[in-house]
This record gives sequence, C-alpha cells and structure tokens, in this order.
Amino acid sequence: MFVRSIYLDGFRNYSPSTAEFSEHVNVITGENAQGKTNLLEAVFYLSCGRSFRTRGDREVIGRDRDSAVILAEAFSDGRDHDIGIRLFRGRKKEITVNGVRLKKASELSGRLSVVLFCPDDLMLVREGASVRRRMMDLCLCQLRPRYAEALAEFTRLYEHKTRILRDWREKPSLLDTLEDFNDRLARAGAILIYYRAALVKNMSGKAADIHREFSGGHEELSLTYRTVSGVPGEPGMKPREIYPLLVEHQQRHRRAELESGMCLSGAHKDDIEITINGMPARSYASQGQARTAALSIKLAERDIHFEDRGDYPILLLDDVLSELDGERQSFVLNRILTGQVLLTCCEDENIAARTGGRIIRISGGTVLSS
Ligand SMILES: Nc1ncnc2c1ncn2[C@@H]1O[C@H](COP(=O)(O)OP(=O)(O)O)[C@@H](O)[C@H]1O
Ligand SMILES: [Mg+2]
Repeated sequence: MFVRSIYLDGFRNYSPSTAEFSEHVNVITGENAQGKTNLLEAVFYLSCGRSFRTRGDREVIGRDRDSAVILAEAFSDGRDHDIGIRLFRGRKKEITVNGVRLKKASELSGRLSVVLFCPDDLMLVREGASVRRRMMDLCLCQLRPRYAEALAEFTRLYEHKTRILRDWREKPSLLDTLEDFNDRLARAGAILIYYRAALVKNMSGKAADIHREFSGGHEELSLTYRTVSGVPGEPGMKPREIYPLLVEHQQRHRRAELESGMCLSGAHKDDIEITINGMPARSYASQGQARTAALSIKLAERDIHFEDRGDYPILLLDDVLSELDGERQSFVLNRILTGQVLLTCCEDENIAARTGGRIIRISGGTVLSS
C-alpha cells in the first residue's frame, strides 16, 4: 500500500500544495518549523481520521482558517482510493472514500495502515508506561476495529468514573451510577486486555529476532504484557473470561478508590515489561541498548502489520534517523527496502543521499518540489 499524492489546504501551516510520493523511500526535507512533521501528520490522518499529536481536530486547522482539506490518492488491496478529509471549526469532520461519505472516522480503518516512529519512541523502553500503552493503542486501533471501538468507550467511561470519584463527597448521589460505570468499564477493559495480550506476545517474538540480529546474537530481548493483578497477560483468555476477574479486582479496590478519589482498578495502568538478557531494560539498559530495543520493537510492529494484511504499512519516520549513529541508521535502512517510507530530516543532513529516496522539499507550508 502507498500514498501516491496528497493535497493539503488549511491543514496546519499549509497553503494549497500537492506532494507526489514515490512508492518507496521519500525524504521530506527543509528547515525547522516549515511543515515536515505536519505532512506526516496529514498522512497519518488518512489511516484513522485523527492526529498523533493532538486529541481534537481544532489545532490542526490553520490558525486563520475555518476549515482544512486533505485529499489523497492512495493504493491498497489492489485498488485505488481517493480519500478526502475535511475539517471544520465548530462542526463535524467529513470523510469520503471514492466520493462516498463515511459515517464514522473508524470506518477508514483497514484501508491504509501506518507505523509512526518519532523521537519519543526512542524512549519507549525507558519512559513511563503511558508511552508503551500508546504504542499498543495506535497499533491495535488500525488492525482491529473492535479494539478502536472498545478503546473509545473505555476512555469515555474512565473519564466519567474519575469525575464521580473526585466529586462524590460534594454530591453523594453520583455514587448511584458507579456500579453501572464499573460494569461497563470491565466489559470494555476485557476487550482491550484480550487484544493487548495477543499483540505483546507476537511482538515479543518478532522484536527479539530483530534485536538478536542487531546485537550479533548477544542480547535476548523479551516483552511481557502486564495488566490488572490477577489477570494473566498471556493470550488465550477470552474477554468473557477476563471480565469477571476485572470485576473482582474492582470490588477489592472499591474502598480505596472512594477514599483516594482516584481510579485504581483497570486497564488504564497496563504496561509492557521489557527485559534484555533477563534484566529490566528500563533501569539496566544502556542508552544504546534501549535504542536498539526501541528500533526492534518498532520494526516488529511493521512486520505485524505485514503478517496481518499481507502488505507493509506506510512507515513514517519523523526525525528519527538523525538521532541514530551510522550503524543503527544502516540497520534501519536495510530493513525498510520494501514498502513505502516517508522520512523527515533537516536540509543539511546527508541522510537523503544515503537512502536514495525521492526528495521532497518543504518551506513555509508549501511543497517546493517532488
Ligand atoms: N494550526 C496551525 N495553523 C498554522 N500554523 C501551524 C498550525 N499548527 C502548527 N503550525 C505551524 O507549523 C510549523 C511547524 O511545522 P512542523 O511540521 O512541526 O515543522 P518541522 O518542519 O520542523 O517538522 C510551525 O511554524 C507552526 O507554527
Ligand atoms: Mg518536525
């Protein structure tokens, strides 16, 4: 799958502009703050109808504009797709595929998949759990529409429950609805856990192979999914089997939740435990090891998409290569010879020449050449 071209108007700092992409490597270059990451963000929008940088659509509409347009020609599953996304201030976005209006952004899922790799991801191993949860969420939302629905539901319920726990002392009647929220949270949470357990198991094997190759066979990387205590993080359990365990955990923590005013039980605290040669990578890995592990995990994510779809996802590398030493750069470049890649780097870097890719210059929110 690949994006042939994208037209942007009013998206972030873009005035009407079209970029034409190669099916292989594309190097998006330009000075700082010109619109390189914005272009990747627009391609990301095509995969799921939302941004990876902000939660709402408001911020991506040009500051002095009322609407933003993304029009793209894409190819996947042996067919061409014209994807149109129109964002408006104060009203719902419109998404069309081949001229047909979609009811929900989640219906976009399945046409184009992307794997995004940005400098934050290099911290995947050492940062807090939220970075690793985000990775699971971004990956699964693209691969499993049911996951995307459950996650949206879970997030909504979680925010509501948090408000109940915070405000019940002033307004005790709020507690009347707590049981209902708990039950629905456990149902949505069970779906999240079911998919996350399978993903992490699969990712662990694939990332370990890649990491072993990079470390010359010296290092064994391993990923283990950690969720609510009492719930096994191994795949195999169905959501209906996970659900009662979540309810039980909630009941045991009910008092503590009311006293602390915080949501203590649920899949919102999930994490992936990462070890290298059996040692927790978060505290023991050197910076180099942590980066290699992060690269291996991200490349594994790409392989998982391939396994699932029979096609490589579009790889978006935002300012990542310039952060890596020569050896790691070559390792990544040698592994991305198939599939479409869009990578950003600053003008003065020699990465463009190394990749042999098509060069796309961006300046002040316009595409200069492609
Ligand atoms: N909603 C917006 N409206 C207009 N300009 C925006 C908007 N959001 C971001 N920008 C501008 O986009 C530029 C940053 O673009 P970005 O793609 O992140 O830069 P880079 O080329 O360094 O990756 C900044 O100049 C910023 O002011
Ligand atoms: Mg950038």
